[in-house]
Amino acid sequence: MIDMTYFVQWQEEYALAHPVIDEQHQMLFLLANRLFGIVEESGQRAKLQDLFTELFAYTQKHFQEEELIWQPLEDSLRQRHRSKHRELKNSLQEIWSKDSIFTTSDTLYWLQGWIQELLEHITQFDRSMYQQLLVSSSVADAQHPVGTMPV
Ligand SMILES: [Fe+2]
Ligand SMILES: [Fe+2]
Repeated sequence: MIDMTYFVQWQEEYALAHPVIDEQHQMLFLLANRLFGIVEESGQRAKLQDLFTELFAYTQKHFQEEELIWQPLEDSLRQRHRSKHRELKNSLQEIWSKDSIFTTSDTLYWLQGWIQELLEHITQFDRSMYQQLLVSSSVADAQHPVGTMPV
């Protein structure tokens, strides 16, 4: 029987109100839940490997795309954010390299810890970056209001 206590539920309060980022964050939750499901189901090695690879690839894709969205922000902020992404990627890789990855309870335990880290990243760092992006774009709009040409 699947133990639902491991599953992570997307909550509206995690949303940043950026359609692309929110959709990708939800997809990360979905992929993680699929992994929880397969580990719980039977620990089938090949399927577990596929799903883990998919989660890792999607995490990378999300981080790359998000970093492009943060491009208008200052370098120091972006570099700090990029290093947070690197940490999350490394810890996911670390989970995969553990010998205990194929023993159900350990996989669930490590993966749940990673999701928790991801959630903290989303609700603190991503949210703050997006807020700064909104501020900087409204400043830019105020400097060049629609309908006026910069002289
Ligand atoms: Fe993100
Ligand atoms: Fe991020």
